[in-house]
Amino acid sequence: MELYDVILKRRSVRSYTAEEIPEEKLRKIIEAGLLAPTSRNRKPCEFYVIGDKAMLESLSEIKPAGGAMLKDCAAAVVVAGDSDKADTWIEDSSIALSYMQLMAADLGVGSCWCQIRLRGSSSGSDAEGCVRGLISASDDYRIVGILALGMPGNEPEPHSPCDADWSKVHCIPAE
Ligand SMILES: Cc1cc2nc3c(=O)[nH]c(=O)nc-3n(C[C@H](O)[C@H](O)[C@H](O)COP(=O)(O)O)c2cc1C
Repeated sequence: MELYDVILKRRSVRSYTAEEIPEEKLRKIIEAGLLAPTSRNRKPCEFYVIGDKAMLESLSEIKPAGGAMLKDCAAAVVVAGDSDKADTWIEDSSIALSYMQLMAADLGVGSCWCQIRLRGSSSGSDAEGCVRGLISASDDYRIVGILALGMPGNEPEPHSPCDADWSKVHCIPAE
């Protein structure tokens, strides 16, 4: 698919079939995250791929809202940025998540970003700490978000070029 068409097609998919994601598609999605650019090429991101149903259910319950899709997805990728390696772990992790979403869209795999950084947990603590506990990661590993992945149970309408809000574009004329 043309990159432009992938950008239009990429939507947040929160409903999935029970089908597994074909192994080669999952690998390509993760590869896209691994190949995403990072500041100074420091590559601070670690990718935790979770397919275990009980663990996915635990992940889905961490936030009081906005994480329910993790219960039914086929796999989730927790992106953890090593803050000791790079002070740009937020940017680097976000780009990796976005690359994986675009690759997923191109391969017909549904995906949805689940925000973790700055979010509270259902138990009143922080969501990041709960996710780190589940994957046994150290405190230096900062977690921007989790990508839920699965074969789409519904296909939201692709974006239309008309959705691009050009009023947000400010052209500075040459002097
Ligand atoms: C930084 C970021 C955080 C997000 N967090 C969540 C989330 O926690 N739960 C959720 O269901 N969707 C989440 N989303 C998905 C957005 O709600 C979604 O991208 C937005 O509504 C636009 O819809 P679209 O992705 O279909 O274009 C997040 C997206 C981004 C970029």
